[in-house]
Amino acid sequence: MIDLRSDTVTQPTAEMWDAMRAASLGDDTLEGDATVHALETLGASLAGKEEALFVVSGTMGNLIASLCHAVRGGEVVLDAHAHMAKSEAGGLARIAHLYPVSVPSTRGEMDLNVLADSLRPGFSRYGQPTAMVCVETTHNHSGGYVPSLAYLADVRGLAAHAGIAVHMDGARAFNAAVSLGTHLARVAAYCDSVTFCLSKGLSAPMGSILAGSREFIAQARTFRRMVGGGLRQAGIMAAAGKVALDTMVERLAEDHRRARRLWQGLADLDPTLVDPQPSGSNIVRLRVSEQRTTDASAWARALEQHGVQTRASGTGMLRLVTHRHIEDAHIELAIAAVARIREA
Ligand SMILES: Cc1ncc(COP(=O)(O)O)c(C=O)c1O
Repeated sequence: MIDLRSDTVTQPTAEMWDAMRAASLGDDTLEGDATVHALETLGASLAGKEEALFVVSGTMGNLIASLCHAVRGGEVVLDAHAHMAKSEAGGLARIAHLYPVSVPSTRGEMDLNVLADSLRPGFSRYGQPTAMVCVETTHNHSGGYVPSLAYLADVRGLAAHAGIAVHMDGARAFNAAVSLGTHLARVAAYCDSVTFCLSKGLSAPMGSILAGSREFIAQARTFRRMVGGGLRQAGIMAAAGKVALDTMVERLAEDHRRARRLWQGLADLDPTLVDPQPSGSNIVRLRVSEQRTTDASAWARALEQHGVQTRASGTGMLRLVTHRHIEDAHIELAIAAVARIREA
């Protein structure tokens, strides 16, 4: 099977298994775990932030950030297709008690005029102050697009002008950095807090990093405990995460190159099958129908019969994601499978 469902299916590398076996462990909630500490120190420095916290998942990192920022207000401004709004089980509202104000976006970039109008520096007759603005990179539900640094700077500027914090859902922020030809710290420079995942293209079995100021991370540690994320011998997982950061970032460029080839191969079959521009990262969307009623999962099942696994993503759309276990030949087989289904 050629598994293009997600980069989260990646298995740990041999080096990760070795590091997990050899990790020195402590109780991270009591005296601390040296391996977790080493990972958090590395994560903070890569993100260009004072401190970092190892958390179970990207969703937990985003939720804890929301709880920290929610201390300052009642609304969160984010784009209508944000993963935090659409795919994190409503934690923003149900747990952090933030009211989501959504802004239309194109390829993961919010409309800056609407964003500016949506920010509330303080209490008004109609609403509570904006606790935070969220940006997402790479942008999952838009098909893996990479918001530009200029856009991130603009969002930062508008939020700072109103005295509002910016949180970055950077589940795939390393993909963004590699795609933009820069470092994570440069991408994360435009936010107060950032979550990035170790468990996606970087291939660690579990875990994410939440990074921010010393004061922010001290609060985050308490909220992590509150949501049940206080860890014990977490060094086993942190060891794999550290190998992920040390060894797996640069190779993301290979995933991007293969996604680009996949986009091109599908566009050559029919340009309407794909988004008008390649995403620049490791996600390709395959538009199987313009009809809102068409069930993309029927296409997913047909592709599976040709040995290609994908996932439905929105109406009439499949999402194909490249990762470490996908080779050049798999991409050609996937393109051929789509061609055959179209002919049938
Ligand atoms: C943009 C984005 N944010 C957050 C997450 C959540 O990460 P996790 O599955 O580790 O909770 C994902 C997962 O795919 C994501 O794509």
